[in-house]
Amino acid sequence: MTAPTPLIAGNWKMHGLAASLDEARAVAAALAGGVGAKATRVAICPAAPLISRMAQALAGSRVETGGQDCRAEASGAFTGDVAAEMLADAGATLVILGHSERRAGHGEDDALVAAKVGAALRAGLEPIICVGEALDQRESGHALSVVIGQVRGSLPAGLAGRPFSVAYEPVWAIGTGLTPTTPEIEEMHRAIRRVLGEMFGPAADRAPILYGGSVKPSNAAEILHAAEVGGALVGGASLKADDFLEIIRALG
Ligand code: PGA
Repeated sequence: MTAPTPLIAGNWKMHGLAASLDEARAVAAALAGGVGAKATRVAICPAAPLISRMAQALAGSRVETGGQDCRAEASGAFTGDVAAEMLADAGATLVILGHSERRAGHGEDDALVAAKVGAALRAGLEPIICVGEALDQRESGHALSVVIGQVRGSLPAGLAGRPFSVAYEPVWAIGTGLTPTTPEIEEMHRAIRRVLGEMFGPAADRAPILYGGSVKPSNAAEILHAAEVGGALVGGASLKADDFLEIIRALG
C-alpha cells in the first residue's frame, strides 16, 4: 500500500476580492520559508473570478489553485456556469466537487457530481469529491450508509488510476464549530477507505481522505492525526493566512 500524500485545501467559498490575494501570498511565503512538512500539498480554492489572479500570485510557489465547482459540459449555452476546461485554462489544478452547499443549494445529486468529476478528469483537473451526512441522518444511525452511498454514486469508474481525493464533510459540522468525535471520524474514514479499495483496487490507497467541517487551529492536530485522515478541507479558517498556516503546521 502506498501512503497518500497529505493535502490541506482551503475553500474560500464566496469570500475574497483581489486584496485577499495577500493572504494567499503570505501562505506561499511561509511555506517557502520552511513552514509545514515538505511532503504536504497545499491548495487554495477561491471563487471563479479570482482563480486566474490567484494562480498568477502563487506561480512558482508550493500552493496550488483550485476551483469550487464546474459544469459537466465542456462548453455551451449555460449562462453563468463555468467549465472544467475554463478552470484549468485559468490556472487551476484541482476542483472541489459535490460540496454540500452545492448538493443542498443547487440540487446536485450523486449522478451529477459523478458527471462533473468526469469533466474534471477530461480537463486534467484533480477532483476533491465531497460527501457527508446531515444531522438527522447521523442521529438516526444512517451516517455510514448515506456517506458510502454518496461515495459509490459520486465517484465514476474513470477515476481508476487518476489522482483524486475524497473529503468527508458532515453537513452539520460545516461552519458550525461542531465536529464529530475522533472515533466517529476514524470510523467514517476507514469505511470510505474500504469502499475506495473495492471500487478502484489498491491504486486508490494513494487517494487522501480529507476531513472537513469546522477545522481550525485548536482542533487541527487531533483531527489530522486520526487514522485514515489524509488532510483537511478548510472553510472559514482558510481565509486568514495565520490560521491556515497553523492548520498546515499541525499536520507536522
Ligand atoms: P468550515 O467549512 O471549515 O467553515 O466548516 C468547510 C467546508 O465547507 O469545506
